[in-house]
Amino acid sequence: MTNLSVSIERIKEDLLDLSEIGKNPRDRGIYRMAFSEADLAGKDWLQKRMKQAGLKTSRDGVANISGVLGDNLQEPRIVVGSHIDTVPCAGMLDGSLGVVVGLECIRILQEQKVSLVRPVELIAFSDEEGRFGGTVGSEAFVGELSRVRLETARDLDGVRLVDLLRKQGLSIDEALRAKRNADDLRAYLELHIEQGPVLDNSGLQVGIVDHITGLRSWSITLQGETNHAGTTPMEYRKDALLGLADFAHEIGRILEEVGTENSRATVGKAEILPGAPNSVPGRVDFSLDFRDPTTAILTELSTAFDRTLLAICRRRGLASEIHAQGEISPVAADQEIVNLLTSHAKSLNISHKVMPSGAAHDAQLLGKITSMGMIFVPSKGGLSHSPAEATDWEDIEAGANLLLHTLLELSSS
Ligand code: HGY
Ligand code: MN
Ligand code: MN
Repeated sequence: MTNLSVSIERIKEDLLDLSEIGKNPRDRGIYRMAFSEADLAGKDWLQKRMKQAGLKTSRDGVANISGVLGDNLQEPRIVVGSHIDTVPCAGMLDGSLGVVVGLECIRILQEQKVSLVRPVELIAFSDEEGRFGGTVGSEAFVGELSRVRLETARDLDGVRLVDLLRKQGLSIDEALRAKRNADDLRAYLELHIEQGPVLDNSGLQVGIVDHITGLRSWSITLQGETNHAGTTPMEYRKDALLGLADFAHEIGRILEEVGTENSRATVGKAEILPGAPNSVPGRVDFSLDFRDPTTAILTELSTAFDRTLLAICRRRGLASEIHAQGEISPVAADQEIVNLLTSHAKSLNISHKVMPSGAAHDAQLLGKITSMGMIFVPSKGGLSHSPAEATDWEDIEAGANLLLHTLLELSSS
C-alpha cells in the first residue's frame, strides 16, 4: 500500500467548487463567516460530498459536520479535520484545504479497500475563525464550552451565539452534548496552509508543526464625551478616538518590554461613535488580538495592556471596559505524531522542516485531549486571510500524500 497517492485533480475540483460558496464577485473574497447562510451552504455542500464518498455523516450540537469511514466503532478513531468557515474577504485555502484534502485521503482509503483497524472521521469544525472569541466547534468537541459561555457569547456586533444555534434548531443542551470522550480518540491530524512566509521563503514543500501559539482576544470600549467639533477647545475634550490612537502607539513598546520575538498584537476592528465628522468621538469599540507561545508571557502582556489603558484613561478623562472574548492556550504537538510525519516525509522524499504555528488552529484544542499533529503547506508570499491566498498545487499534492500515508499507518495499525 506504500504506493497510494491522492488525486490532485479531485482536490482541485472540490476546492474550486467550495470556494464559489460565499464568494463576492466584487473583491473575489470569500464571506463564509461562522453560522452565516454561506457557512450553512458550505456545510450542506460538504455533507453531500461526504455521502458521495460513502461516509456516515452527522451534525452535532454546535453544527460540526462529520463523516465516518469504518465499522469497528468501539476502537479509538483517527480524526482528520479543519474548518470551512472564513474571515470576511478570505481566500479559498484557510481551513477548507484541510477539509477537502482530508476528504480525498479518506476516499482513497475507501476506494483502495484499505482494511481499517479503527474508524477514520473527517470533521469540519464550526466557527474556527473566532467570530465568538475562540474556536466554538473544537471547544465544544473537547468539552471546553461551558453553559455560561454559550449563554453569554456575542460577536463584535452583539449577535448572540445561542440565537444562531437556535436558528439551526440547536439548543444549549445539544451544544454541550457535542463533547467527545478522549478515550474514543487515537489521534487528530490537520493539514493547513502555513499563513506565513517561512516555507515559501525556504522553498520547502511542507512544515511539520511542533507547537501552536496561544491567543487572547479582547473587545475593548473607551468611553469619553461626545461634543461639538467646532466649539470644544482641544484641552476640554474627552476624545475616545485619541485614546485608541495613544493605545495603538503603545503596542510596539509593550511587546518590546514584555513580549518575545514570537509575540503578536493586532487591533483589527474599530468603531468610532457617534461617527459624525463634526462630533468629537465619545466612544470607540475595538478588538485586541494578542499571541505568544507561552502562557506566562500572555499573562504579562494582559497586565501591561490593562495598565496602559488605565494610564491613557486617566490622562484623557476616559473610562475603559475590557471584555475577554476568548482565549486559546498554546499547545505542543504529540512527539509520536511529529516523528511519524517526519519519517513519512523522508520516505516520500518531501522536503520539510519542523516549525511552530503563529496562527491558532482547531488542532490546539484537540491537542489537549488526544495525540495531535499538523502539516503545513506553503503560503505564497506568506499571504492569508486575503483573496490573494495561494499555494502551488504540487505542494498541496505533497502535503496531501504525507497526510494520506500517515493516516494509512495510524488507521491500519
Ligand atoms: O486567527 C487565527 O490564527 C486563525 O486563522 N483563526
Ligand atoms: Mn484556519
Ligand atoms: Mn484563519
